[in-house]
Amino acid sequence: MSKIVIYQPDDIKPMQEACSLAKSVLDYISPFVTEGISTEELDKLCYDFIIKNGATPAPLNYHGFPKSICTSVNDVVCHGIPSKYKLLNGDIINIDITVNLNGWFGDTSRMYKIGECSKLADRLIAVTEQALDIGIKAVKIGGTFGDIGYSIQRFVESNGFSVVRDYCGHGIGRHFHEDPMVLHYGIKDTGEKIKPGMFFTIEPMVNAGSHKTKVLKDKWTAVTVDKSLSAQFEHTIAVTDNGVLVLTR
Ligand code: MF3
Ligand code: CO
Ligand code: CO
Repeated sequence: MSKIVIYQPDDIKPMQEACSLAKSVLDYISPFVTEGISTEELDKLCYDFIIKNGATPAPLNYHGFPKSICTSVNDVVCHGIPSKYKLLNGDIINIDITVNLNGWFGDTSRMYKIGECSKLADRLIAVTEQALDIGIKAVKIGGTFGDIGYSIQRFVESNGFSVVRDYCGHGIGRHFHEDPMVLHYGIKDTGEKIKPGMFFTIEPMVNAGSHKTKVLKDKWTAVTVDKSLSAQFEHTIAVTDNGVLVLTR
C-alpha cells in the first residue's frame, strides 16, 4: 500500500528553498562541465557549494553511496559514482543533485554535452527533456500518476527511444525518497489520484536502444545492457490548490 504524505501550504516555502538551491548547484557547476575535468572534481565543487549554502548533499552515505552527486556518463542510466574518469569530447553526462536544506529535500538533474556530440546524442537529450516537460503537463489535480507515465511513454516511443522501467520518480519532502513511485510508463486513468499537498519528482530515463538496465559490480552504477546511450532530466514538483509548481525550474 502506498502512503503518500499530504504536505501543508506552509511546507511549500522551505521546500521551495531547498529546490531552488538544488537548481543553483546545477547552474553553478555548468561552466565547469567541460573536456578534461574528472567527475570527482565536479563532485568536490558541488560538495563545497552545497555546504557553503548551509545545506548537505543528500546522496553522501545514502544507503552507502560514497559521493555527494551522481554523474552518469554515456551508457550510464543513473547513479554513476564520481571518479577519476575525465570527460572526453563527445561525452554526454547527467548530473543529479539532491540537497537537504533545513530538513527539506530538493532533487533535480540535467544533461550536459561535452564539445561536439553525435546527432543521436543531441536528439536523445532533446527528446528526454521534452518528455519531462510533457510529464509535468500531465500533472493535474484529479488526474492520476498513470497519466504522467502514459504521456511520457507515448512521446518517447513515438520518437523511437525507450523508457527505463527499473528506476522511477518518487515522493519527496521531509525525506529523500517517499511514496509514491512515479513510473515513467503506464496507462491513463490508473494509479493513485493526484492531490494538492503532494510533492514528488518526475525524472524520466530514456535509452537510445533497449530499456533494459543492469547494475555494475560497484552496486550503484546502472548501465544500459546493450551499451546504448541514456539520458535523464529531473524536476521536483509541488501540487497546490492554485496549480502545479515546478520547484527546481
Ligand atoms: N538523486 C537520485 C534520484 O533522483 C537518487 C540518487 S541515490 C544515490 O532519486 F544514492 F545514488 F545518490
Ligand atoms: Co529523484
Ligand atoms: Co535525483
